[in-house]
Amino acid sequence: MDNNDMKTIQWFPGHMAKTRRAIAANLKLVDAVAELIDARTPLSSRNPEIDSLTAKKPRIIIMNKCDLADSNATSAWINYFRNQGITALAVDCKSGKGLNKLMPALKNEVLAELMEKRQRSGMTGAPVRMMILGIPNVGKSSLINRLAGSKRTKVEDRPGVTRVKQWVKLADNTELLDMPGVLWPKFEDQSAAIRLAFTGAISDDILDIETLAMKLLVFLSENYPQSLAERYKIDLSDDDDGLALLEKIGKKRGMVISGGEINTERAAITVLDEFRSGKLGKITLEMPEGKAL
Ligand code: G4P
Repeated sequence: MDNNDMKTIQWFPGHMAKTRRAIAANLKLVDAVAELIDARTPLSSRNPEIDSLTAKKPRIIIMNKCDLADSNATSAWINYFRNQGITALAVDCKSGKGLNKLMPALKNEVLAELMEKRQRSGMTGAPVRMMILGIPNVGKSSLINRLAGSKRTKVEDRPGVTRVKQWVKLADNTELLDMPGVLWPKFEDQSAAIRLAFTGAISDDILDIETLAMKLLVFLSENYPQSLAERYKIDLSDDDDGLALLEKIGKKRGMVISGGEINTERAAITVLDEFRSGKLGKITLEMPEGKAL
């Protein structure tokens, strides 16, 4: 992929250092780390330093937004993580689906050893403490709201805004540590950044909107041609490039400007919006064996 036209994503090294330090300082307070990722982008939505940051703490991967992801792909990813010795779970924090499996997986699998130890030493009343980590927009607030069973106010979570850590008490004698700070995504990997822009996890303006939509359409025509053809009622041909697809969609939706030219910008906005809200179907943007974009 030619990424010369991509703008650099701005990040803040000082802020990253602070987040790193906060995680290191608080890790000793928890029994496990819950790493929240997006089921549509299971690798791209992981923080690149998560392994070293969490320093071998027992970890569970929560694949959120599974309502928007391809369920075969989600199963393949759960096996992929399992083969690496990591328990992974698919959830949908919008509806709450899958969340009832979280505590059993945590206590019976991820923390089985600790639980046995506590049982032996008569410490079964001790709470299980868990730190939740995830890049912005992955659904941390939604998860905490769901688990806490009440609507908590969304806390500002961006560079430059200071907030304190909070313990959130849950049922099942579990406590969640909601950490301040932003966990950064893989901003140096441009293919990952493009996948994150497709899902809306990072700002669209790393590329102009039409280029972004064209790249998404090429991916969809190669990997989910039926969903694409059905949604827009278009015929696909092997020599369609991104622009041809965008024009077919714009034409079908009557997006024309004076002189009969297709309004590809409007078509691009429509495609990205519809993809993000799941109207194109359940779609995963990367597979464990590394499907190219
Ligand atoms: P964050 O704290 O990690 O930054 O994420 P947050 O919970 O704010 O969620 C980011 C967006 O993702 C929200 O949408 C939220 O509703 C949506 N979301 C979270 N979990 C799921 C899920 O499992 N499935 C789906 N489909 N969406 C999910 P938003 O448009 O920013 O806000 P709103 O829809 O809540 O108004």
